[in-house]
Amino acid sequence: MTALVAEIERFDKLSSTWWNKRGPMRPLHVINALRLGYVVEQVAKHVGRMPSHALYGLRILDVGCGGGLLAEPLARLGAVVVGVDASPGNISAARSHASLHGVPVDYRLGESAEVVSPEEKFDVVLALEVVEHVQDMPAFMANAARHLAPGGLMVVSTIDRTWKSYLFAIVGAEYILRVLPRGTHHWSMFVRPEELGTALAPHGLVRQDLRGMRYQPLQHRASWFSDTRVNYIATFARPANKDRDPSAQAT
Ligand SMILES: C[S@@+](CC[C@H](N)C(=O)[O-])C[C@H]1O[C@@H](n2cnc3c(N)ncnc32)[C@H](O)[C@@H]1O
Repeated sequence: MTALVAEIERFDKLSSTWWNKRGPMRPLHVINALRLGYVVEQVAKHVGRMPSHALYGLRILDVGCGGGLLAEPLARLGAVVVGVDASPGNISAARSHASLHGVPVDYRLGESAEVVSPEEKFDVVLALEVVEHVQDMPAFMANAARHLAPGGLMVVSTIDRTWKSYLFAIVGAEYILRVLPRGTHHWSMFVRPEELGTALAPHGLVRQDLRGMRYQPLQHRASWFSDTRVNYIATFARPANKDRDPSAQAT
């Protein structure tokens, strides 16, 4: 299993704050519009549709969905969304919020390997701000990649492991400006972009895009940035002619 008990417990304690735009999840609220636009743009380009209709009818798996900050708007745009999270509190917060607002999302409690059957395939798999919280990142990515349909896209966002991320994402964000609770991140668990590529290559996924994101903590604003050494988002594609995970052929 790839969930870390201490991490899940920590998220669980914060679950009631998930939809509070000024609470501990504020940075996720701030980056949400940017990453939603990114997913729509990447999918539209990939499937050759207008952005306004890009997601319609597509199946999306959101692994580590938290309280559903992105799952909900994706469903509103017409996608059929399954959200998976190992924290009972987060899944409960996600279900309550979705039902209150009449948004159809299929939320499942557990890890993807436990609650998504091997036969279930998705056009898009998301792993947003989660890989820096798991143990055995390659195993986590392998579990997620298994559910990507041929020709599908995987979008991953996380924090790079650099001196700059130590300064900005740990010292600045948690200790000086306190935009995140202390202990939210562990620098050694940050993930280099090439490590994601290495983890996904055995499953036939190829990187198509890599983009830096900048979070301005004083203004609580997010924007695209040419530098990927702190926050970044990346898109990987499974070629349409790869009808199965090549790593599965060896077993
Ligand atoms: C920082 S939150 C990100 C939530 C959401 N993806 C977002 O960006 O709004 C990380 C989430 O991943 C979940 N998580 C951590 N490890 C997991 C695992 N191995 N499987 C499923 N969920 C996991 C946590 O419970 C938490 O809700």
